[in-house]
Amino acid sequence: MQKNKIYIKSYGCQMNVYDSNRILDLFKNKDYEIADDPKDANLVVLNTCHIREKAAEKVYSDIGRINKIKKDKKKDSFKLVVAGCVAQAEGEEIKLRAPSVDFIVGPQSYHKLPEMLKTKDSILSDEFTQNDKFKNLLYNSSGGVSEFVSIQEGCDKFCSFCVVPYTRGPEFSRPVNEIINEINKYLNQGVKEVIFLGQNVNAYHGIGEDGKTKDLAYLINKVSELEKLKRIRYMTSHPIDMTDTLIRVHKTNIKLMPFLHLPIQSGSNKILKAMNRKHNVDFYRRIVEKLRNEKPDIALSSDFIVGYPGESDKDFNDTMKFVNEVKYVIAYSFIYSQRPGTPAQKKDNIPLAEKKARLSALQSLLKEQQKNYNKSFIGKKIEVLFDKKGRHKDQFIGRSIYNQSVFTSSEKNLINKIANAKIINSTDFALESSV
Ligand code: SAH
Ligand code: SF4
Ligand code: F3S
Repeated sequence: MQKNKIYIKSYGCQMNVYDSNRILDLFKNKDYEIADDPKDANLVVLNTCHIREKAAEKVYSDIGRINKIKKDKKKDSFKLVVAGCVAQAEGEEIKLRAPSVDFIVGPQSYHKLPEMLKTKDSILSDEFTQNDKFKNLLYNSSGGVSEFVSIQEGCDKFCSFCVVPYTRGPEFSRPVNEIINEINKYLNQGVKEVIFLGQNVNAYHGIGEDGKTKDLAYLINKVSELEKLKRIRYMTSHPIDMTDTLIRVHKTNIKLMPFLHLPIQSGSNKILKAMNRKHNVDFYRRIVEKLRNEKPDIALSSDFIVGYPGESDKDFNDTMKFVNEVKYVIAYSFIYSQRPGTPAQKKDNIPLAEKKARLSALQSLLKEQQKNYNKSFIGKKIEVLFDKKGRHKDQFIGRSIYNQSVFTSSEKNLINKIANAKIINSTDFALESSV
């Protein structure tokens, strides 16, 4: 008998990738093999992202491509599933716009997928059943050195531009023991680093072993007691949940890496207010100061949105000034995208050309900062965890403690090794070492 094969594509954030890993777990367990191409599969899962219009629209063009494959296959032997945040936000619309889609599952109900495929009772599942979901998943390492672990999901913040509160539902934190069990499984499979994930990861408030609520600082300290675990990271954090206790853990816990992704979105108080970010620039500035007091070498990263409705030249210049002041080691920036159902939706009023010009100016500045930061490591030694082979012969790639990509050449296999690497060169986006 021919083996079943599953092909999955992730469109979104790290949590979307984590969900894809869990979906693969569910099917690998049911005698499926992984296909690298949808043509070779009989189950195709598109794990979608709704955050910006481009990502969401791509799904429909991909469905069109998959339909061509589907036509060449025998009916009933090929199933197309749309999972993820577009499934959650537009499930009914997908049914109408793309009748070829066999099943639609949101990010909080994909654990039901194997059952749905069997019974065909319902093609759409979009309930928020986080509790059930995590209990019904399997946790197999994806085979690497570093593993994502979702510890918190959903969002109660409702920034006026963002779909996440609607696609992922309210904030939910997993219990401490569940997280530790999952990590132990990965550690027994060779994992050395975990990256805690959550849409608001630092709002974590899970139940501890004693029945009391625990915060992220507690969880980091608890998990760092696991001997085989060498590194901990977490993302994404919201400034208003960056407590003094958590900031202190950056100084006191040596397994917590000196890198923090802390999006500010804009350097203008007026825009922050309009975005409903719940803090001003000074508030964020004070967090940066506190972090640098506790951990002077901490590397900071951020997200920015340019061209938000009402953003004037002055507002944009405030963002540029703020970036100059903070000096990020890396940052991601996006043109504002109008999203259905969000409060900011109807106000988009900055011409596209202006948005593009602002994005390009901001990205040049961020790239310059990243380049200078990387350059400052030449001649220094830095701890690197190597996790994969590079494109060239004997090339290995790893991550520095500051999350930079580091590549090196070695005749010895470096995968899964932590080395004190001497930096000999730098590019805009990476470092080269002589280990
Ligand atoms: N929870 C995280 C971010 C999640 S979304 C936080 O609060 O920071 C990831 C990033 O996508 C955001 O930080 C933001 O910069 C960007 N983003 C979200 N909605 C967007 C929109 N409508 N248009 C453009 N960028 C958006
Ligand atoms: Fe979206 Fe804001 Fe929630 Fe982040 S905090 S997920 S940007 S609503
Ligand atoms: Fe996209 Fe959903 Fe993540 S909208 S960014 S996949 S939470």
